[in-house]
Amino acid sequence: MTQKLFTPYQLGDLTLPNRVVMAPLTRRRAGKDFIPSRLMASYYAQRASAGLIIAEASMIHRTGLGYSDIPGIYTNNQVEGWKWVTGAVRDKGGRIFLQIWHVGRYSHTLFQENGALPLSSSAIKIDGVINTPDGYKECIVPRALSTDEIPRVVEWYSNAARNALKAGFDGVEIHGANSYLIDQFLQDGSNDRTDQYGGVIENRVRFGLEVLEAVISEAGGNRTGIRLSPSNIKNSMTDSNPVGTFTYMIERLNDFNFAYLHLVEPTLPVDHLPQYKKEVAQYFRQFYNGTLISCGGYTLDKAENALQEKQADLIAFGVPYISNPDLVERFIQRVALNEADPATFYTGGEKGYIDYPVL
Ligand SMILES: Cc1cc2nc3c(=O)[nH]c(=O)nc-3n(C[C@H](O)[C@H](O)[C@H](O)COP(=O)(O)O)c2cc1C
Repeated sequence: MTQKLFTPYQLGDLTLPNRVVMAPLTRRRAGKDFIPSRLMASYYAQRASAGLIIAEASMIHRTGLGYSDIPGIYTNNQVEGWKWVTGAVRDKGGRIFLQIWHVGRYSHTLFQENGALPLSSSAIKIDGVINTPDGYKECIVPRALSTDEIPRVVEWYSNAARNALKAGFDGVEIHGANSYLIDQFLQDGSNDRTDQYGGVIENRVRFGLEVLEAVISEAGGNRTGIRLSPSNIKNSMTDSNPVGTFTYMIERLNDFNFAYLHLVEPTLPVDHLPQYKKEVAQYFRQFYNGTLISCGGYTLDKAENALQEKQADLIAFGVPYISNPDLVERFIQRVALNEADPATFYTGGEKGYIDYPVL
């Protein structure tokens, strides 16, 4: 059987040399004012043999902060910082997108300027705690965006896309997954709005689709992707009809011409979603006509099988990329992978970041 994973893939105008994608991974190694560090340039350059790197979630606006030491993509200095990263990856022959992100309610007054309330689709809080600059705190009730404010928030995403291209990225991935702002509009457990952005599913998809349209018109369809997580229940995400909600959203994506849909496989049990008999990507493939990336829990053999079975076109790897900068070479040679050390995922500094051994 020929290994499909190591064959090229045409993604818009980019030719990927293989179908191994580096998943977006927040590592909290940015510097002051959320400016990407030189250390980050070394880290991404080490991983340039990936078919495509999707760089870590990056704040589109200061209100989108929910973790310390993460990078942004809304100031000129941040753009300059990212140029180190994109230049270093390009020098090694790689291709790199940037994930653009607003956390919405997954924030706290302690993260916001002047102690403002975090923004969301509705004033509905997460039942849980958040790690703030002052330690773990109970999540708080966010402020619902007014209808009039929403166009400006959509613009934050398209500004971020413009900045990302200025910084030398090959494209952007809209972060619509994992309980953050777009997800908060999409699912009815976090959206009880009564305007055109809430209520029936046709309204709840509106914010995400307006962001997609704005980013496509800024960056071009070839340079735009979106990530969704139809099975995620972390951070109090619930929907009265999750399969229906995500099926509708994914079918609507066919109306747009853009680079890819990136789906996250469940990391928690999904017994409440029997439709996903095996993989989420396998279920939603039937509703989406474009390029599909699947991520979550893949090994070499499982990835190859998913490609052979046409469940996805590209496979993204998260944790395996943390500890294996030369993941593609290791897969080709079928050698053992380095174990990742979760203790250093977010600790800052070089340890557990740029010191994993290569073959
Ligand atoms: C340390 C860490 C940071 C992550 N950061 C992000 C992120 O910035 N954006 C995102 O969409 N997913 C993020 N994820 C999720 C990964 O992209 C991926 O979906 C997850 O690790 C499952 O893939 P895997 O089984 O190959 O690791 C993160 C995961 C980890 C472990």
